[in-house]
Amino acid sequence: MSAHQKLYEGKAKILYTTDDPEILLAHFKDDATAFNAQKRGSIAGKGEINCTISSHLLREMEAAGIATHFIDSPTGNQMRVRRVQILPLEVVVRNIAAGSLCKQTGLPVGTLLKQPLVEFFYKNDDLGDPLLTRERLFLLELATPEQVEQLKTLALQVNDILSAFFQRCGITLVDFKLEFGLDRDGTLRLADEISPDTCRLWNNSDDDPDRRVMDKDRFRRDLGNVEEAYQQVLERVLAQTNQQSE
Ligand code: TMP
Ligand code: ASP
Repeated sequence: MSAHQKLYEGKAKILYTTDDPEILLAHFKDDATAFNAQKRGSIAGKGEINCTISSHLLREMEAAGIATHFIDSPTGNQMRVRRVQILPLEVVVRNIAAGSLCKQTGLPVGTLLKQPLVEFFYKNDDLGDPLLTRERLFLLELATPEQVEQLKTLALQVNDILSAFFQRCGITLVDFKLEFGLDRDGTLRLADEISPDTCRLWNNSDDDPDRRVMDKDRFRRDLGNVEEAYQQVLERVLAQTNQQSE
């Protein structure tokens, strides 16, 4: 296959091949979807904001010894990544009850969980990314028992680093979704992105349940000021990253 061919187009990113078969170029789009693409829109500047935030956060993970697919970010909305085979799993970590956890269990939004909850969803758009039981995960052979243990450990490690990082930004990490892939050597690497599209982020300096939202819930729930919230997250992440490197 020649270089720079479109390999895959997802809802938020396009993956291109490069001259190196082990390296792909991810282009972050401004397109936004929710509820399995039943709601569609665009968030001005989102591609660049999410690519920049993700690049900083994936670098944080690498610095903490967590293997990721991140290589570098040649332009604002592009990221060079190691080619991995993505596991068809969405690994969700929750610190505070929100979203589908509340909808499916009746727990009030904002309930502080005694310990982080790790959940696995089947990454399958046709089925609407359903929540998996452990038994179903193994029935479908989506990962081995060893990989599931490894994924849980990694997800909790990411949660510790990410929660602390966002706390320093004055932001509470409510929950987030991770994806992992296997590289050519079979190493499990954190992949995809970490951004306001994939995290719930609440502003510490605002108690109002709508005003405090700094993530894609603003788009999902038509709360307005979506671009401004994403921009605010970017500014705080950049300020924190700069402060750490001083
Ligand atoms: P949920 O409460 O809707 O299950 O979402 C949990 C977390 O996962 C939340 O931070 C948003 C993120 N997420 C995605 O990144 N992609 C998705 O398709 C969905 C449904 C959630
Ligand atoms: N990934 C979801 C979609 O398919 C969006 C979301 O709710 O995060 O549209």
